[in-house]
Amino acid sequence: MIHTPVLLKEVIEYLSLQVGDVVLDATLGLGGHSFEICKEIGKDGTLVGIEQDSELLEATKLKIKDTGCKTIFINGNFRNLDKLLEPLEIKYLDAAVFDLGMNTAQLMCSGRGFSFQKNEPLIMNFKREVGSDDLTALEILNTWSKEDIFEILKDYGEERFARSISANIVKQRKVRKFKTTFDLVDVAERSVPVFYTKRRIHFATKTFQALRIAVNDELNALEEGLNKCWDLLKSDGRVVVISFHSLEDRIVKNFFREKKKEEAGIVLTKKPIRPSREEILLNPKSRSAKLRACEKI
Ligand SMILES: C[S@@+](CC[C@H](N)C(=O)[O-])C[C@H]1O[C@@H](n2cnc3c(N)ncnc32)[C@H](O)[C@@H]1O
Repeated sequence: MIHTPVLLKEVIEYLSLQVGDVVLDATLGLGGHSFEICKEIGKDGTLVGIEQDSELLEATKLKIKDTGCKTIFINGNFRNLDKLLEPLEIKYLDAAVFDLGMNTAQLMCSGRGFSFQKNEPLIMNFKREVGSDDLTALEILNTWSKEDIFEILKDYGEERFARSISANIVKQRKVRKFKTTFDLVDVAERSVPVFYTKRRIHFATKTFQALRIAVNDELNALEEGLNKCWDLLKSDGRVVVISFHSLEDRIVKNFFREKKKEEAGIVLTKKPIRPSREEILLNPKSRSAKLRACEKI
């Protein structure tokens, strides 16, 4: 499975890497960014790659291993960065990149319900081995209150028909509990006007996005991850973040602004960097990407 790394040239440019650097890829995915990072930092450099999805991590290890730099791969959530790095010899970072959200492999072939085009169990957790403490989309759909479901569809999905979709979710589960993605697609289709089902963007896109963000607590994880990463960053070290959602971008923007106010950081991107028309044509999934970067003083 191929995942085309988004804004690759720009990520490398803003990271401004030196041979021998210690670099964190907080969202390793299929290693598209890491592969280039390794080439920049050379055999004396160290790449630390974190990925929540254990299966992807295994596949990516094989891809990166011949690049030449030293590598440390960690299966975990970047919100626990401090604890994940504690047992290792890593005391500081020269640079870090966060490329948020999910990747093509998870969308197309994870079997965990990220895509409304495939009939799969509604798990939507980035973690491969989901335990009884881990949230799933099924738990949200089958047990959360109508109001709470409405809130996530409205806030995380910016779904204009959040009210009717949440009402119909609660009505439907009284008849039959949700099991698979197509159960949710059916309810979404019944909850929106006909014109909404004929647009270029699929009518269930925002509902699926909202559930994924809620299941993985993506916004809180981002805040925690950024704070912990900043603490580990050396002075002159850089952090680069690619986000795909306005709420994520706001968190990144405010975090960097705060660092500037504290005179702890220099914001390197006055406005977010967007993919070129050429990149969007080649990789339509890059369309909503926004890159921001900051240097620690
Ligand atoms: C957009 S993809 C990264 C793609 C990668 N840069 C590449 O070029 O292949 C985001 C990845 O981050 C992982 N991820 C998302 N949130 C995470 C978190 N809080 N901790 C660790 N990994 C996370 C997802 O499982 C996904 O594989």
